[in-house]
Amino acid sequence: MSLSNEVALVTGGGRGIGQATCRKLGSLDAAVLVGDQDMTAAEEVALAIEGAGGRARAVQMDVCQAASWRQAVAEAMNWRGGLSILVNAAGFDRPGQVSEVSLEDWRAVMDVHLTSCLLGIQAVSPVMRQKHYGRVVNVSSIQAKYGVHGQAAYAAAKAGVIGLTRSAAQELAHAGVLVNCVLPGLVDSPSLREGLSDEERQRIVSETPLRRLARPREVASVIAFLCSDEASFVCGAAWEVTGGWRM
Ligand SMILES: NC(=O)c1ccc[n+]([C@@H]2O[C@H](COP(=O)([O-])OP(=O)(O)OC[C@H]3O[C@@H](n4cnc5c(N)ncnc54)[C@H](O)[C@@H]3O)[C@@H](O)[C@H]2O)c1
Repeated sequence: MSLSNEVALVTGGGRGIGQATCRKLGSLDAAVLVGDQDMTAAEEVALAIEGAGGRARAVQMDVCQAASWRQAVAEAMNWRGGLSILVNAAGFDRPGQVSEVSLEDWRAVMDVHLTSCLLGIQAVSPVMRQKHYGRVVNVSSIQAKYGVHGQAAYAAAKAGVIGLTRSAAQELAHAGVLVNCVLPGLVDSPSLREGLSDEERQRIVSETPLRRLARPREVASVIAFLCSDEASFVCGAAWEVTGGWRM
């Protein structure tokens, strides 16, 4: 599989699943824009890709701001003259049960997980339509299907990502732009390590047929496939990457 003709923008590229995706796409010869609000982390990832012989550039982004998306697309156009892949992987969490979550936290989580995907698709699709080729992969979560006790906004936003993915997939397929999403189970990323107790981790591992959490690169491999020409008939899919957890 080669992505040598592709230019990819990956949000949340500084850490976790986004970082692993940048590295994977870079290793497949895509030119990679590492988008993150943390510019230091994004630059480190871009340098690592270049150090491994790839092509990469860091771009500071706030995925909740339309202006930031316009800048990132302009950066891609100036750098490589196009943009054919978008991976929406930025995220964070504000825990809160349905009965108590503040409107401020609810909106912040919706913005970073769901509105960001809308803004991203709106920003990149004109460029992709023009070339009649594009791939968009949104990172949802298996929690979208089952809900999470204490993370109401997160589960709702991730469910919204599936609905948005499928609407965009229907609207853009005729223009050669395939939109899909992935639904990871628990992935051993920095944010998960910060937010999950040992007991909770053990419980989930024991419920998972593969008896471990995912590595970020295992999600990145599925994303890379969906970004490739090999996935030419995959449209509007919600691809589970869970090790069998909650199948
Ligand atoms: N880790 C898991 O178990 C898991 C499971 C399912 C889905 N996901 C989803 O995968 C994605 C990545 O998760 P992760 O665990 O790798 O996260 P992470 O916290 O390790 O990395 C997220 C990155 O997003 C960046 N970011 C946050 N807000 C941003 C903003 N407004 N603009 C630009 N960048 C921003 C952060 O700086 C960070 O580098 C998220 O959407 C998350 O919800 C994670």
